[in-house]
Amino acid sequence: MDATPALRQGDLPDEPAAPRTGSPPAGGPATASTGSAASITLEQIRKDYAGGTVAVEDLSLHVPAGELVVLIGPSGCGKSTVLRMINRLVEPTSGRILLDDEDVTTADPVQLRRRMGYVIQNVGLFPHQTIATNVGTVPRLLGWPTARIRERTEELLELVGLDPARYGPRYPNELSGGQRQRVGVARALAADPVVLLMDEPFSAVDPIARARLQDEFLRLQADVRKTIVLVTHDLDEAVRLGDRIAILSQGGRLEQYADPRTVLGEPSSPFVREFVGGDRAIRRLVVTPVTRDLLAPLATVEDAAGLPTIALGASLYDALAVLLTTNADVARVTDGGRAVGALSRHRLLSIDYPADVVDQRE
Ligand SMILES: Nc1ncnc2c1ncn2[C@@H]1O[C@H](COP(=O)(O)OP(=O)(O)OP(=O)(O)O)[C@@H](O)[C@H]1O
Ligand SMILES: [Mg+2]
Repeated sequence: MDATPALRQGDLPDEPAAPRTGSPPAGGPATASTGSAASITLEQIRKDYAGGTVAVEDLSLHVPAGELVVLIGPSGCGKSTVLRMINRLVEPTSGRILLDDEDVTTADPVQLRRRMGYVIQNVGLFPHQTIATNVGTVPRLLGWPTARIRERTEELLELVGLDPARYGPRYPNELSGGQRQRVGVARALAADPVVLLMDEPFSAVDPIARARLQDEFLRLQADVRKTIVLVTHDLDEAVRLGDRIAILSQGGRLEQYADPRTVLGEPSSPFVREFVGGDRAIRRLVVTPVTRDLLAPLATVEDAAGLPTIALGASLYDALAVLLTTNADVARVTDGGRAVGALSRHRLLSIDYPADVVDQRE
Protein backbone atom coordinates (compact mmCIF):
# COMPACT_ATOMS: atom_id res chain seq x y z
CA MET A 1 0.00 0.00 0.00
CA ASP A 2 1.01 3.57 -0.44
CA ALA A 3 1.95 5.17 2.82
CA THR A 4 0.17 8.29 1.66
CA PRO A 5 0.13 11.40 3.79
CA ALA A 6 -2.77 13.77 3.21
CA LEU A 7 -0.73 15.79 0.78
CA ARG A 8 2.59 15.14 -0.84
CA GLN A 9 4.84 17.79 -2.17
CA GLY A 10 4.78 17.77 -5.94
CA ASP A 11 1.63 15.67 -6.21
CA LEU A 12 -0.34 18.49 -7.73
CA PRO A 13 0.47 20.59 -10.74
CA ASP A 14 2.07 23.30 -8.64
CA GLU A 15 2.34 24.68 -5.16
CA PRO A 16 -1.03 25.93 -3.94
CA ALA A 17 0.49 29.34 -3.21
CA ALA A 18 1.70 29.82 -6.77
CA PRO A 19 -1.46 31.37 -8.21
CA ARG A 20 -1.34 34.21 -5.73
CA THR A 21 2.29 35.04 -6.34
CA GLY A 22 2.91 33.86 -9.89
CA SER A 23 1.88 35.65 -13.03
CA PRO A 24 -0.40 34.02 -15.59
CA PRO A 25 1.44 31.97 -18.19
CA ALA A 26 2.03 33.45 -21.58
CA GLY A 27 -0.75 32.75 -24.00
CA GLY A 28 -3.51 33.56 -21.52
CA PRO A 29 -6.34 31.40 -20.35
CA ALA A 30 -7.41 28.09 -21.80
CA THR A 31 -4.60 27.64 -24.27
CA ALA A 32 -2.88 24.89 -22.32
CA SER A 33 -5.80 22.48 -22.38
CA THR A 34 -7.73 21.72 -25.47
CA GLY A 35 -10.55 19.97 -23.65
CA SER A 36 -10.60 16.94 -25.91
CA ALA A 37 -9.41 13.51 -24.88
CA ALA A 38 -5.97 12.38 -26.04
CA SER A 39 -4.62 8.87 -26.44
CA ILE A 40 -1.61 7.89 -24.33
CA THR A 41 1.15 5.68 -25.67
CA LEU A 42 3.93 4.32 -23.50
CA GLU A 43 6.84 2.95 -25.49
CA GLN A 44 9.27 0.73 -23.62
CA ILE A 45 9.34 2.89 -20.54
CA ARG A 46 11.66 2.03 -17.70
CA LYS A 47 12.23 3.46 -14.25
CA ASP A 48 15.29 2.76 -12.13
CA TYR A 49 15.11 4.38 -8.71
CA ALA A 50 18.24 5.33 -6.81
CA GLY A 51 19.33 2.34 -4.73
CA GLY A 52 18.87 -0.13 -7.55
CA THR A 53 15.09 -0.76 -7.59
CA VAL A 54 13.87 -1.35 -11.11
CA ALA A 55 10.27 -0.25 -10.53
CA VAL A 56 9.30 -0.61 -14.20
CA GLU A 57 11.50 -2.57 -16.53
CA ASP A 58 10.11 -2.30 -20.03
CA LEU A 59 6.46 -1.35 -20.41
CA SER A 60 4.62 -0.58 -23.61
CA LEU A 61 0.93 0.29 -23.43
CA HIS A 62 -1.55 2.16 -25.60
CA VAL A 63 -4.57 3.84 -24.01
CA PRO A 64 -7.06 4.91 -26.70
CA ALA A 65 -8.59 8.39 -26.43
CA GLY A 66 -11.75 8.47 -24.35
CA GLU A 67 -11.21 5.06 -22.75
CA LEU A 68 -10.84 4.17 -19.10
CA VAL A 69 -7.93 1.83 -18.49
CA VAL A 70 -7.38 0.29 -15.07
CA LEU A 71 -3.90 -0.64 -13.84
CA ILE A 72 -4.03 -3.42 -11.28
CA GLY A 73 -1.44 -5.69 -9.72
CA PRO A 74 0.25 -6.59 -6.45
CA SER A 75 1.65 -3.96 -4.11
CA GLY A 76 4.99 -2.60 -5.29
CA CYS A 77 4.60 -3.76 -8.91
CA GLY A 78 5.01 -0.21 -10.20
CA LYS A 79 1.45 1.06 -10.76
CA SER A 80 1.92 4.46 -9.11
CA THR A 81 5.28 4.82 -10.81
CA VAL A 82 3.66 4.28 -14.22
CA LEU A 83 0.96 6.84 -13.45
CA ARG A 84 3.52 9.37 -12.25
CA MET A 85 5.68 8.86 -15.32
CA ILE A 86 2.71 9.79 -17.52
CA ASN A 87 2.56 13.26 -15.97
CA ARG A 88 6.31 13.32 -15.33
CA LEU A 89 6.13 13.63 -11.57
CA VAL A 90 8.58 10.76 -12.00
CA GLU A 91 11.01 10.98 -14.91
CA PRO A 92 11.34 7.78 -16.94
CA THR A 93 14.89 6.42 -17.09
CA SER A 94 14.27 5.50 -20.72
CA GLY A 95 11.47 5.09 -23.22
CA ARG A 96 8.95 7.45 -24.76
CA ILE A 97 5.53 8.80 -23.80
CA LEU A 98 3.18 10.14 -26.47
CA LEU A 99 -0.03 12.13 -26.10
CA ASP A 100 -1.79 11.48 -29.37
CA ASP A 101 1.18 11.86 -31.74
CA GLU A 102 3.04 14.36 -29.60
CA ASP A 103 6.16 13.10 -27.84
CA VAL A 104 5.91 14.57 -24.33
CA THR A 105 8.91 12.74 -22.88
CA THR A 106 10.89 15.95 -22.92
CA ALA A 107 8.05 18.48 -22.75
CA ASP A 108 8.00 21.02 -19.92
CA PRO A 109 6.59 18.93 -17.04
CA VAL A 110 4.74 21.83 -15.42
CA GLN A 111 2.91 22.67 -18.66
CA LEU A 112 2.24 18.98 -19.17
CA ARG A 113 0.68 18.55 -15.72
CA ARG A 114 -1.70 21.39 -16.38
CA ARG A 115 -3.13 19.37 -19.24
CA MET A 116 -3.67 16.36 -17.01
CA GLY A 117 -5.97 15.91 -14.06
CA TYR A 118 -4.49 13.93 -11.20
CA VAL A 119 -6.42 12.38 -8.33
CA ILE A 120 -4.12 11.08 -5.64
CA GLN A 121 -4.83 8.52 -3.00
CA ASN A 122 -6.59 10.10 0.02
CA VAL A 123 -7.48 13.01 -2.24
CA GLY A 124 -4.84 15.44 -0.96
CA LEU A 125 -7.05 18.51 -0.80
CA PHE A 126 -5.33 21.63 0.49
CA PRO A 127 -6.61 21.71 4.08
CA HIS A 128 -6.46 25.49 4.58
CA GLN A 129 -8.32 26.31 1.38
CA THR A 130 -12.06 26.12 0.86
CA ILE A 131 -13.58 23.47 -1.37
CA ALA A 132 -14.21 26.10 -4.08
CA THR A 133 -10.60 27.30 -3.94
CA ASN A 134 -9.36 23.72 -4.10
CA VAL A 135 -11.44 22.99 -7.20
CA GLY A 136 -10.19 26.17 -8.91
CA THR A 137 -6.49 25.36 -8.39
CA VAL A 138 -5.47 24.57 -11.96
CA PRO A 139 -7.64 27.20 -13.68
CA ARG A 140 -5.99 29.73 -11.35
CA LEU A 141 -2.55 28.46 -12.33
CA LEU A 142 -3.59 28.83 -15.95
CA GLY A 143 -4.54 32.46 -15.32
CA TRP A 144 -8.25 32.17 -16.05
CA PRO A 145 -10.30 35.30 -15.16
CA THR A 146 -11.88 35.14 -11.71
CA ALA A 147 -15.47 35.06 -12.98
CA ARG A 148 -14.72 32.13 -15.25
CA ILE A 149 -13.02 30.22 -12.44
CA ARG A 150 -16.06 30.77 -10.21
CA GLU A 151 -18.41 29.61 -12.95
CA ARG A 152 -16.33 26.53 -13.69
CA THR A 153 -16.01 25.65 -10.00
CA GLU A 154 -19.78 25.79 -9.54
CA GLU A 155 -20.36 23.73 -12.65
CA LEU A 156 -17.90 21.06 -11.47
CA LEU A 157 -19.28 20.84 -7.94
CA GLU A 158 -22.74 20.37 -9.39
CA LEU A 159 -21.40 17.74 -11.76
CA VAL A 160 -20.07 15.66 -8.86
CA GLY A 161 -23.28 16.12 -6.90
CA LEU A 162 -22.25 18.74 -4.33
CA ASP A 163 -24.30 21.91 -3.98
CA PRO A 164 -21.79 24.74 -4.65
CA ALA A 165 -23.53 27.20 -2.33
CA ARG A 166 -23.43 24.73 0.52
CA TYR A 167 -20.09 23.02 0.04
CA GLY A 168 -18.01 25.61 -1.83
CA PRO A 169 -17.24 27.74 1.25
CA ARG A 170 -16.46 24.78 3.52
CA TYR A 171 -13.02 23.39 4.36
CA PRO A 172 -12.00 19.82 3.55
CA ASN A 173 -12.26 18.62 7.17
CA GLU A 174 -15.94 19.64 7.14
CA LEU A 175 -16.74 17.02 4.49
CA SER A 176 -17.15 13.25 4.64
CA GLY A 177 -14.51 11.01 3.06
CA GLY A 178 -16.73 10.29 0.05
CA GLN A 179 -17.49 13.97 -0.46
CA ARG A 180 -13.79 14.79 -0.33
CA GLN A 181 -13.13 12.18 -3.00
CA ARG A 182 -15.73 13.83 -5.22
CA VAL A 183 -14.02 17.17 -4.69
CA GLY A 184 -10.76 15.51 -5.70
CA VAL A 185 -12.38 14.37 -8.95
CA ALA A 186 -13.90 17.85 -9.53
CA ARG A 187 -10.51 19.49 -8.98
CA ALA A 188 -8.86 17.11 -11.42
CA LEU A 189 -11.47 17.88 -14.08
CA ALA A 190 -11.46 21.65 -13.54
CA ALA A 191 -9.31 22.76 -16.45
CA ASP A 192 -10.90 20.21 -18.78
CA PRO A 193 -7.72 18.10 -19.01
CA VAL A 194 -7.02 15.84 -21.95
CA VAL A 195 -6.08 13.03 -19.57
CA LEU A 196 -7.18 12.06 -16.08
CA LEU A 197 -4.83 10.04 -13.87
CA MET A 198 -6.35 8.49 -10.75
CA ASP A 199 -4.36 6.63 -8.09
CA GLU A 200 -6.73 4.54 -5.96
CA PRO A 201 -9.29 7.36 -6.02
CA PHE A 202 -12.07 5.55 -4.19
CA SER A 203 -10.04 3.60 -1.68
CA ALA A 204 -10.74 5.73 1.38
CA VAL A 205 -14.46 5.09 1.65
CA ASP A 206 -16.55 2.15 2.80
CA PRO A 207 -17.81 -0.38 0.23
CA ILE A 208 -21.32 1.06 -0.04
CA ALA A 209 -20.17 4.64 -0.52
CA ARG A 210 -17.54 3.32 -2.92
CA ALA A 211 -20.12 1.58 -5.08
CA ARG A 212 -22.13 4.81 -5.19
CA LEU A 213 -19.07 6.85 -6.12
CA GLN A 214 -18.22 4.33 -8.84
CA ASP A 215 -21.73 4.62 -10.26
CA GLU A 216 -21.55 8.40 -10.22
CA PHE A 217 -18.14 8.25 -11.79
CA LEU A 218 -19.35 6.02 -14.61
CA ARG A 219 -22.16 8.47 -15.29
CA LEU A 220 -19.69 11.34 -15.25
CA GLN A 221 -17.38 9.52 -17.64
CA ALA A 222 -20.29 8.87 -20.01
CA ASP A 223 -20.70 12.68 -20.10
CA VAL A 224 -17.12 13.89 -20.27
CA ARG A 225 -15.42 10.94 -22.03
CA LYS A 226 -11.88 11.59 -20.80
CA THR A 227 -8.92 9.35 -21.34
CA ILE A 228 -8.49 7.91 -17.86
CA VAL A 229 -5.80 5.76 -16.29
CA LEU A 230 -6.99 4.51 -12.92
CA VAL A 231 -4.97 2.50 -10.41
CA THR A 232 -6.74 0.19 -8.00
CA HIS A 233 -6.17 -2.81 -5.74
CA ASP A 234 -9.78 -3.82 -6.07
CA LEU A 235 -10.55 -6.31 -8.83
CA ASP A 236 -14.30 -5.70 -8.60
CA GLU A 237 -13.65 -1.99 -9.12
CA ALA A 238 -11.44 -2.78 -12.10
CA VAL A 239 -14.10 -4.99 -13.66
CA ARG A 240 -16.81 -2.44 -13.04
CA LEU A 241 -15.04 0.66 -14.29
CA GLY A 242 -12.51 -0.47 -16.86
CA ASP A 243 -12.99 -0.47 -20.61
CA ARG A 244 -9.74 -2.40 -20.43
CA ILE A 245 -7.69 -3.81 -17.60
CA ALA A 246 -3.89 -3.94 -17.55
CA ILE A 247 -2.66 -6.56 -15.10
CA LEU A 248 0.89 -5.88 -13.98
CA SER A 249 3.36 -8.06 -12.08
CA GLN A 250 6.59 -7.02 -10.38
CA GLY A 251 8.71 -4.63 -12.38
CA GLY A 252 5.71 -3.25 -14.25
CA ARG A 253 5.52 -6.35 -16.43
CA LEU A 254 2.34 -6.37 -18.48
CA GLU A 255 0.75 -9.79 -17.94
CA GLN A 256 -2.50 -9.16 -19.77
CA TYR A 257 -4.23 -6.18 -21.35
CA ALA A 258 -7.80 -6.79 -22.38
CA ASP A 259 -11.41 -5.97 -21.65
CA PRO A 260 -12.77 -7.27 -18.31
CA ARG A 261 -14.67 -10.20 -19.80
CA THR A 262 -11.58 -11.49 -21.53
CA VAL A 263 -9.40 -11.08 -18.44
CA LEU A 264 -11.91 -13.01 -16.33
CA GLY A 265 -12.81 -15.57 -18.97
CA GLU A 266 -9.47 -16.16 -20.61
CA PRO A 267 -6.66 -15.34 -18.18
CA SER A 268 -3.52 -15.38 -20.29
CA SER A 269 -1.05 -16.78 -17.76
CA PRO A 270 -0.95 -18.64 -14.44
CA PHE A 271 -0.15 -15.29 -12.79
CA VAL A 272 -3.34 -13.70 -14.10
CA ARG A 273 -5.40 -16.79 -13.31
CA GLU A 274 -4.18 -16.68 -9.74
CA PHE A 275 -4.64 -12.93 -9.54
CA VAL A 276 -8.23 -12.88 -10.74
CA GLY A 277 -9.03 -15.77 -8.42
CA GLY A 278 -11.21 -18.85 -8.32
CA ASP A 279 -14.37 -16.77 -8.19
CA ARG A 280 -13.78 -15.15 -11.56
CA ALA A 281 -16.71 -17.09 -13.02
CA ILE A 282 -18.97 -15.19 -10.64
CA ARG A 283 -17.22 -11.88 -11.35
CA ARG A 284 -17.74 -12.54 -15.00
CA LEU A 285 -21.49 -12.37 -14.43
CA VAL A 286 -20.97 -8.70 -13.58
CA VAL A 287 -19.71 -7.94 -17.08
CA THR A 288 -21.95 -10.30 -19.04
CA PRO A 289 -25.29 -8.80 -20.08
CA VAL A 290 -28.68 -10.46 -20.35
CA THR A 291 -29.08 -11.00 -24.09
CA ARG A 292 -31.97 -12.27 -26.19
CA ASP A 293 -30.33 -15.61 -26.91
CA LEU A 294 -30.69 -16.53 -23.23
CA LEU A 295 -34.44 -15.98 -23.20
CA ALA A 296 -37.32 -18.41 -23.53
CA PRO A 297 -40.69 -17.26 -24.92
CA LEU A 298 -42.86 -15.85 -22.16
CA ALA A 299 -45.75 -17.97 -23.41
CA THR A 300 -44.01 -21.06 -22.03
CA VAL A 301 -44.10 -19.62 -18.50
CA GLU A 302 -47.12 -19.97 -16.27
CA ASP A 303 -48.31 -16.83 -14.49
CA ALA A 304 -45.88 -14.46 -16.24
CA ALA A 305 -47.57 -11.46 -14.65
CA GLY A 306 -46.37 -12.38 -11.17
CA LEU A 307 -42.68 -12.64 -12.11
CA PRO A 308 -39.91 -10.31 -11.10
CA THR A 309 -38.65 -8.07 -13.90
CA ILE A 310 -35.17 -7.67 -15.33
CA ALA A 311 -34.16 -5.25 -18.06
CA LEU A 312 -32.55 -6.62 -21.20
CA GLY A 313 -28.89 -5.61 -21.04
CA ALA A 314 -28.71 -5.76 -17.24
CA SER A 315 -25.79 -7.84 -15.96
CA LEU A 316 -26.26 -11.53 -15.30
CA TYR A 317 -25.03 -10.76 -11.79
CA ASP A 318 -27.92 -8.34 -11.19
CA ALA A 319 -30.31 -10.80 -12.82
CA LEU A 320 -29.18 -13.56 -10.47
CA ALA A 321 -29.51 -11.22 -7.51
CA VAL A 322 -33.13 -10.48 -8.50
CA LEU A 323 -33.92 -14.19 -8.87
CA LEU A 324 -32.35 -15.00 -5.51
CA THR A 325 -33.92 -12.16 -3.54
CA THR A 326 -37.40 -12.79 -4.96
CA ASN A 327 -36.92 -16.55 -4.64
CA ALA A 328 -38.14 -16.96 -8.22
CA ASP A 329 -37.02 -19.52 -10.79
CA VAL A 330 -37.85 -17.29 -13.73
CA ALA A 331 -37.86 -13.55 -14.41
CA ARG A 332 -39.62 -11.53 -17.05
CA VAL A 333 -37.15 -9.62 -19.24
CA THR A 334 -38.21 -6.27 -20.64
CA ASP A 335 -36.80 -4.00 -23.30
CA GLY A 336 -37.90 -0.37 -22.98
CA GLY A 337 -40.78 -1.50 -20.77
CA ARG A 338 -42.02 -4.19 -23.18
CA ALA A 339 -41.71 -7.84 -22.15
CA VAL A 340 -39.45 -9.72 -24.58
CA GLY A 341 -38.97 -13.11 -22.92
CA ALA A 342 -38.21 -15.12 -19.82
CA LEU A 343 -34.88 -15.85 -18.16
CA SER A 344 -34.62 -18.87 -15.90
CA ARG A 345 -32.10 -19.56 -13.15
CA HIS A 346 -31.20 -22.76 -14.90
CA ARG A 347 -30.39 -20.98 -18.16
CA LEU A 348 -28.46 -18.25 -16.38
CA LEU A 349 -26.29 -20.75 -14.53
CA SER A 350 -25.63 -22.89 -17.58
CA ILE A 351 -24.07 -20.24 -19.83
CA ASP A 352 -20.90 -21.38 -21.50
CA TYR A 353 -17.65 -20.70 -19.77
CA PRO A 354 -14.25 -21.05 -21.34
CA ALA A 355 -12.62 -24.41 -20.62
CA ASP A 356 -10.23 -23.25 -17.96
CA VAL A 357 -13.08 -21.93 -15.85
CA VAL A 358 -14.92 -25.23 -16.22
CA ASP A 359 -11.77 -27.11 -15.12
CA GLN A 360 -11.75 -25.20 -11.87
CA ARG A 361 -15.20 -26.45 -10.95
CA GLU A 362 -13.92 -29.90 -10.00
N1 LIG B 1 11.00 7.32 -4.74
C1 LIG B 1 11.36 6.03 -4.73
N2 LIG B 1 12.63 5.67 -4.51
C2 LIG B 1 13.01 4.37 -4.53
N3 LIG B 1 12.17 3.35 -4.76
C3 LIG B 1 10.88 3.65 -4.99
C4 LIG B 1 10.40 5.01 -4.98
N4 LIG B 1 9.07 4.99 -5.25
C5 LIG B 1 8.74 3.70 -5.40
N5 LIG B 1 9.81 2.89 -5.24
C6 LIG B 1 9.84 1.42 -5.39
O1 LIG B 1 9.41 1.10 -6.69
C7 LIG B 1 8.56 -0.04 -6.67
C8 LIG B 1 7.23 0.33 -7.30
O2 LIG B 1 6.57 1.28 -6.46
P1 LIG B 1 5.11 1.84 -6.79
O3 LIG B 1 4.80 2.87 -5.78
O4 LIG B 1 5.07 2.23 -8.21
O5 LIG B 1 4.23 0.53 -6.57
P2 LIG B 1 2.66 0.33 -6.61
O6 LIG B 1 2.38 -0.75 -7.58
O7 LIG B 1 1.97 1.62 -6.78
O8 LIG B 1 2.38 -0.25 -5.13
P3 LIG B 1 1.11 -0.05 -4.17
O9 LIG B 1 0.06 -0.94 -4.73
O10 LIG B 1 1.62 -0.55 -2.87
O11 LIG B 1 0.73 1.39 -4.15
C9 LIG B 1 8.48 -0.49 -5.23
O12 LIG B 1 9.42 -1.50 -5.04
C10 LIG B 1 8.86 0.74 -4.46
O13 LIG B 1 9.47 0.40 -3.24
MG1 LIG C 1 0.76 2.83 -5.55
